[in-house]
Amino acid sequence: MGNLLIRNAQIITMNPADEIIMGDIFIKNDTIHTIGPELNPDCADKIINAENRTVIPGFIQTHIHLCQTLFRGKGDDLELLDWLKKRIWPLEAAHDEDSIYYSALLGIGELIQSGTTTIVDMETVHHTEFAFQAIAKSGIRALSGKVMMDKGDDVPIGLQEKTSDSIQESVDLLEKWNMFDNGRIQYAFSPRFVISCTEELLKEIRSLSETYDVKVHTHASENQKEIEIIQRETGMRNIEYLDYLGLANERLILAHCIWLDEREKKIIKEKGVHISHCPGSNLKLASGIAGIPDLLRMGVSLSLGADGAPCNNNLNMFNEMRLAALIQKPIHGPTAMNARSVFEMATIGGAKAVGLENEIGSIEVGKKADLVILNLNNFHTYPSYDYDPISRIVYSASRDDVETTIINGQIVMENKVVKTIDKDIVLYEANRSIKRLLKRAGFIYNEVAF
Ligand code: GUN
Ligand code: FE
Repeated sequence: MGNLLIRNAQIITMNPADEIIMGDIFIKNDTIHTIGPELNPDCADKIINAENRTVIPGFIQTHIHLCQTLFRGKGDDLELLDWLKKRIWPLEAAHDEDSIYYSALLGIGELIQSGTTTIVDMETVHHTEFAFQAIAKSGIRALSGKVMMDKGDDVPIGLQEKTSDSIQESVDLLEKWNMFDNGRIQYAFSPRFVISCTEELLKEIRSLSETYDVKVHTHASENQKEIEIIQRETGMRNIEYLDYLGLANERLILAHCIWLDEREKKIIKEKGVHISHCPGSNLKLASGIAGIPDLLRMGVSLSLGADGAPCNNNLNMFNEMRLAALIQKPIHGPTAMNARSVFEMATIGGAKAVGLENEIGSIEVGKKADLVILNLNNFHTYPSYDYDPISRIVYSASRDDVETTIINGQIVMENKVVKTIDKDIVLYEANRSIKRLLKRAGFIYNEVAF
């Protein structure tokens, strides 16, 4: 690492004063050291000329499954429980060390290329060590953890685990990886969803998350059948049950939260639980449309995620921002979700969800240098004259406009070339791996030339 100077940019800071500044950013190692006009270039090891470029805080996606990136296109047009039982679980059970590693790198390559600098990632039952190795190598900032699932119907043998093993493996991974590289990597306990977990497991997770002060990342109230099963098994609604277990607190990140009643919304708000809204996944799995405008009005902590490649089928924050705004409009009116609210969810909202609002999520002196440089000089983003910069990014820009991505002061993509991942190798190994997994899962496999 060294000192990096970004010059002459339009800087969308997302700081508390909502400033948009024309000027320079001086990055010292991993930290934003100075922001201002015409900074002295003398101590810079490298200068990026960002004239006519827009710099934004890197996107923070609070719900991702890197282990599923290889399953892109292998789970189309199914509803959640069929999607899991018929496609995702058999494929996850077929994973090996190499396939986990390349699935993660494939996903991270796409994330970096589309401007995402931090993720909350849920892996599968086994081989999570190799996802952490991929995360470490790639330079992305991540909270990740092995999925925990010690109960459930139609779970393949390869994903069945004993409660004690699930806990032991999680703690072993936590002790190895939590706070790796000065905190760039953190561990997060990742129970799959309530119907995959015994009460004993969930209670232990609650206690361990407190002991180690790490996040708990799970799915909740995504699908109507899911919440019916929980109600039948526990006599409680999903969020009430999580609250009864003591899990509803500021360490909890819940993906989806589509099917909430008023009491559950109140628990989420009062206990400081974070919601990761995944509009692309919610539409594709026919799960529903989350009542985000209402939660926004209540002041609930909201952020965004693309979920996994087989339920989206991209990991592209530009898609999620656009969908998050548009899907609410026919139901709640044109102003229910505006570009500004969505951009906040994509940046500082995500930082709050992961408890790093003092370190990332905005461009401010003293924060980590997690930045994205956009080149918006194109047909689809013009005229720029008097075009609100945030609206321009949310409604007009796309991932093709991402030119350079910086994480923790490291340039991980420059001029559209990802530096930390060898694209040719990863694409080649991705095909080799999914071919192996489809065979191992017993799926009919046509030897189609790629
Ligand atoms: N619920 C339980 N597991 C999963 C998963 O892998 N993806 C999604 N979207 N929902 C889930
Ligand atoms: Fe998910």
